[in-house]
Amino acid sequence: MSNREQTYDVVGIGFGPSNLSLAIALEEFGAHGMENEISSLFLERQPSFGWHRNMLLPSATMQISFLKDLVTFRNPTSGFSFIAYLHASGRLPQFVNNQDFFPTRQEFHQYLEWAQAQVAGRIEYGAEVTSIRLPSGTAPQEGADRLVLEVAEGAGRTGRAVEARNVVISTGLVPSMPAGAERDERVWHSSEFLDKYRRTDHRELRRVAVVGAGQSAAEIARFLYDELPHAQVSAIIPSYGYAVADDTPFANRIFDPSAVDDYYFGTEQTRESFWRYHRNTNYSVVDDEVIRDLYRRSYDDEVRGVTRLQLLNLTRVTGVKRAGAETRVSLQVGPDAELRELDFDLLVCATGYDGMEPTGLLGELDRYCLRDEAGRYRVERDYRIVTTPELRCGIYLQGGTEHTHGLTSSLLSNLAVRSGEIADSIIARRAGYGAEREVLAKIGGDIA
Ligand code: FDA
Ligand code: NAP
Repeated sequence: MSNREQTYDVVGIGFGPSNLSLAIALEEFGAHGMENEISSLFLERQPSFGWHRNMLLPSATMQISFLKDLVTFRNPTSGFSFIAYLHASGRLPQFVNNQDFFPTRQEFHQYLEWAQAQVAGRIEYGAEVTSIRLPSGTAPQEGADRLVLEVAEGAGRTGRAVEARNVVISTGLVPSMPAGAERDERVWHSSEFLDKYRRTDHRELRRVAVVGAGQSAAEIARFLYDELPHAQVSAIIPSYGYAVADDTPFANRIFDPSAVDDYYFGTEQTRESFWRYHRNTNYSVVDDEVIRDLYRRSYDDEVRGVTRLQLLNLTRVTGVKRAGAETRVSLQVGPDAELRELDFDLLVCATGYDGMEPTGLLGELDRYCLRDEAGRYRVERDYRIVTTPELRCGIYLQGGTEHTHGLTSSLLSNLAVRSGEIADSIIARRAGYGAEREVLAKIGGDIA
């Protein structure tokens, strides 16, 4: 359990898969006889572990191989792997017989819960970090080697301060709504879907609409079609039809650990090529299987002479108004961008996410963090924000580094390796300059 008085070597902010993977990396470093174990604490605002719980739809599957779990790419012999979890659950033979690289999100969630239970001593749930600052009375020019995190704990939001030599920010993606749409009891973002759905009287949902042409939108449209047989489901998509996520082997190489170096050390032109050619591995695209499921439902409708699944293609939402009990949605429709208004009982905006944005948490510390010409954080290869020399403690990012480290920044593919690199960097910097140079040479970091 944590000691409330101590200064931790590492405090992680947010405890999704990224910082869970880091907690395991630190645990494994400790187990391998590190002389002075790295002390760490992970603060998570949710009351218990949860990985996009509101999108744990019954048939949703993972979008990466189970081998890209929390550890395997860093340490294939780890006891925290998905295979170790299957073995512990007595399901390894059954899983193998299923011959499928892509478990359901529900099963992967169980794996993550199993893994977090083994590092429970390092985690505090119900603890939201509200800001990070220098210790009181520190004059910036003196050089700060500690940071203070302000934390709101529990339902009563009791305040508490935690000290750290390094922080690892991993607060996740930020839901994005269409301009002119506010969330309310009948206008939801996909990130709150299941929670809101369970609390709604389904009989009232006769005309429902799902906005977006990404994986979240397609999965929710399929779910609503199956769960609400009395309802018409309108899919409002900006494309002509759902486009498939490129999951082919050569394209998949952009998620390999080595692709991070190619992106990080590449030219502007290289980076641009990653995005131009490979955005369709992840954004605004849908797994082939889900597209076919939806098409089959739409075709069955035609055969039966009904239109339960209606595709409003080449259509964008431009605004949402409440009109009594109705949700009135303004749309730009079709090839001529004709303006229309339609009423729905429910509008689900599966309109994606913005990248992780640590500026709010950093507050006054932000002025020690250097930015590039485009105003984005400069980040070293070891995921540490480049700071002015007087800030000697490390601020690391897990997420929010698409501009420096590429597409895996917000995904699971490179978690195991990335968190190992962060752990290496923290350990090396603590060990002192000599060891630091050696380890950083290996992982390509800079000594600030
Ligand atoms: P994640 O968002 O999981 O965790 C951040 C945590 O920080 C949250 O638990 C949050 O509560 C907490 N937090 C935020 N602010 C805080 C604060 N101030 N104080 C304390 N805690 C705070 N990728 C992939 O590669 N394969 C896949 O199959 C999927 N599947 C998938 C499904 C769905 C529905 C979504 C929306 C996304 C995916 N992704 C994905 C991408 C996704 O970003 C990725 O799977 C992980 O969630 C990234 O893990 P993180 O820990 O970085 O963020
Ligand atoms: P996304 O891929 O960013 O898709 C958002 C969609 O919303 C895009 O089609 C976008 O169109 C559209 N959109 C935005 N504003 C709109 C508007 N005003 N009107 C109409 N459409 C609008 O987001 P996502 O589907 O939530 O996926 C995010 C991440 O989660 C991805 O990494 C995805 O793989 C992952 N995910 C995984 C699973 C799973 O593992 N099973 C499930 C869900 C999500 P434009 O592109 O034209 O703006």
